[in-house]
Amino acid sequence: MKVMLLLSLFLYASSTTSGSYCMSTDCTNQGTSGSFSLYLRVCCVMDNLGRSFTIKGNGISRYILCPSVLPKPCQSVRSCKDLNSTINGDYTIYPDGVTPVEVYCDMNGINCDGEDGWTRVGYFNMTESDATCPAGLIQKNFTNIDHPLCGRLANSSTCISTTFSSNGLTYNKVCGQVRGYQSFRARAFLNFQNDIENFTVDGVSITHGSNPRKHIWTYA
Ligand SMILES: *[C@@H]1O[C@H](CO)[C@@H](O)[C@H](O)[C@H]1NC(C)=O
Ligand SMILES: *[C@@H]1O[C@H](CO)[C@@H](O)[C@H](O)[C@H]1NC(C)=O
Ligand SMILES: *[C@@H]1O[C@H](CO)[C@@H](O)[C@H](O)[C@H]1NC(C)=O
Ligand SMILES: *[C@@H]1O[C@H](CO)[C@@H](O)[C@H](O)[C@H]1NC(C)=O
Ligand SMILES: *[C@@H]1O[C@H](CO)[C@@H](O)[C@H](O)[C@H]1NC(C)=O
Repeated sequence: MKVMLLLSLFLYASSTTSGSYCMSTDCTNQGTSGSFSLYLRVCCVMDNLGRSFTIKGNGISRYILCPSVLPKPCQSVRSCKDLNSTINGDYTIYPDGVTPVEVYCDMNGINCDGEDGWTRVGYFNMTESDATCPAGLIQKNFTNIDHPLCGRLANSSTCISTTFSSNGLTYNKVCGQVRGYQSFRARAFLNFQNDIENFTVDGVSITHGSNPRKHIWTYA
């Protein structure tokens, strides 16, 4: 398969207020936001309550002592699972406890396993009239298909990819669907290697993380 019509990916969060933001005493300050929001991002993590942290970044070290109870501004809706709703649609969640993120929530698991509260992280559907391919994938038109598709150049020998952010959400299950078309011949797997970066598949592969990324699902 070389071109994709549709992709949707959902993440399922296991617990509401766990997380690992700045768990070590020397983690670097990745944020550009002010120290109050840094304080909240550290202290809105349940595991960090009652502990102290030294955050090093840009030549400045900040000492943060988290209180023993969650600070008041911490948001409890970390993922769609924390919403009190059975209606699928767009919601605001706070994966790090303070930063709002708009996401589509599958509240009845109709796209997945029937469990409530799946958070969508990646989606494109090329039959929608204004749809565009996500960054990294190339849009292609075929005379016998009445909408564009996404994929790689037919004559390129390397794979191309796109990345979807989990926005820092802690998750333990992934579900989704991909719909695609085969063009030209199917070659399935090539270049068998132990190393995920050197394995070639003529199809679609979904991985998570980096250095090294880990395999979730492949269709050849
Ligand atoms: C969830 O929503 C229902 C209906 O609006 C309400 O009765 C219930 O108290 C809510 N539960 C929580 C935990 O907020
Ligand atoms: C893709 O978009 C079409 C047109 O809007 C819609 O009918 C269809 O349900 C969508 N498919 C999915 C899986 O969301
Ligand atoms: C493909 O077709 C769409 C309209 O369906 C058009 O907007 C787009 O420019 C075309 N892309 C290419 C690469 O021809
Ligand atoms: C691949 O095909 C495109 C258009 O079909 C062409 O412009 C490009 O030069 C080709 N690249 C290679 C490496 O053959
Ligand atoms: C795997 O690919 C990397 C670069 O992408 C290369 O340096 C390495 O030699 C390859 N390993 C094998 C076993 O081919």
